[in-house]
Amino acid sequence: MGGGRCITVVVAVLLLALRSGVRACPATEREALLEFKAALQEPYLGIFNSWRGSDCCHNWYGVSCEQESRRVADINLRGESEEPIFERARRTGYMTGYISPAICRLERLSSITIADWKGISGEIPRCITSLPFLRMIDLIGNRISGTIPEDIGRLKRLTVLNVAENVMSGRIPASVAKLRSLMHLDVRNNRLWGPIPKKLGSLGMLSRALLSGNRLSGPIPESISKIYRLADLDVSGNEISGPIPEWLGKMGVLSTVNLDMNKLSGEIPLSLFSSGISDLNLSRNALEGNIPDAFGVRSYFTVLDLSYNNLRGPIPFSISSASYIGHLDLSHNHLCGKIPLGPPFDHLQPSSFLHNDCLCGKPLKPC
Ligand SMILES: *[C@@H]1O[C@H](CO)[C@@H](O)[C@H](O)[C@H]1NC(C)=O
Repeated sequence: MGGGRCITVVVAVLLLALRSGVRACPATEREALLEFKAALQEPYLGIFNSWRGSDCCHNWYGVSCEQESRRVADINLRGESEEPIFERARRTGYMTGYISPAICRLERLSSITIADWKGISGEIPRCITSLPFLRMIDLIGNRISGTIPEDIGRLKRLTVLNVAENVMSGRIPASVAKLRSLMHLDVRNNRLWGPIPKKLGSLGMLSRALLSGNRLSGPIPESISKIYRLADLDVSGNEISGPIPEWLGKMGVLSTVNLDMNKLSGEIPLSLFSSGISDLNLSRNALEGNIPDAFGVRSYFTVLDLSYNNLRGPIPFSISSASYIGHLDLSHNHLCGKIPLGPPFDHLQPSSFLHNDCLCGKPLKPC
């Protein structure tokens, strides 16, 4: 009898312990989060006011956990959002401080989004590369400095790496090329310098490579031609030199190519004009030669901007056989001759053709 009661009590206690164990998040994770919070100041919205109580998986703003283990899986803090907390404050977020290395103690983290807080500075904690389950790092729109961790390539599951719009410096580490799951690389508008990693083309899953607004130099690496899924290549506003590779026009799904504001030279390869590329900006380089006479029904451009180069000769007549050219800019070159007629041209303004040597015909003066 007494033994039976004892067992009942033990079972009840165990059940209670289990239940509360299920309810609270692991204390170590909670402590890591509180340490992370302590390094940040968010004066206007009070998002961290919700970070209290023992269960960090429940109603802690921006924190979510794995269902079974109750370990923290996502930190999702965006400074620009339409959530009620932002609507009530009638402003976007602002946060200062830094990203504490305590974040690396959240071993099951799969995504870290700390985006658009404008004032978060300091460096990316090096230890972040030891988080084996990380799929997403999104730190866009802060004041983060320092370099991209040299061993970033350890993050084998990483699909998104976005550190755009910060003040990061140094090179893009060669180990980036080991991120075999990477689909989206965005380092726009930082202070990165040095070459585009030669082996970037090993990133077989990559669909967007956004590298604009840095100080990257050297050529466009040949290996990129192997990135079968690449749809969007943006290296504008760097110091990229050498010729525009011919293979760009032969890539399977490439549709947006922004190479504007670099130091590219040589002629425009024929392949670009009858490819799948629909958004092409080559403005402000040192391109020379004629505009290739290679337009056809496959040429479909929402944007074709070749302005501010050293292009010579006539506008090729084949351009009237393009299926569509929404926005054309050939201004500030040395083109000469009669502007072709045809549907792709009917809607264009003189500004598309100004500042050339001797272009004439509609919409400019008659020849
Ligand atoms: C092309 O790039 C130039 C230089 O960066 C920029 O000024 C221009 O607006 C771009 N063209 C289009 C159509 O976006």
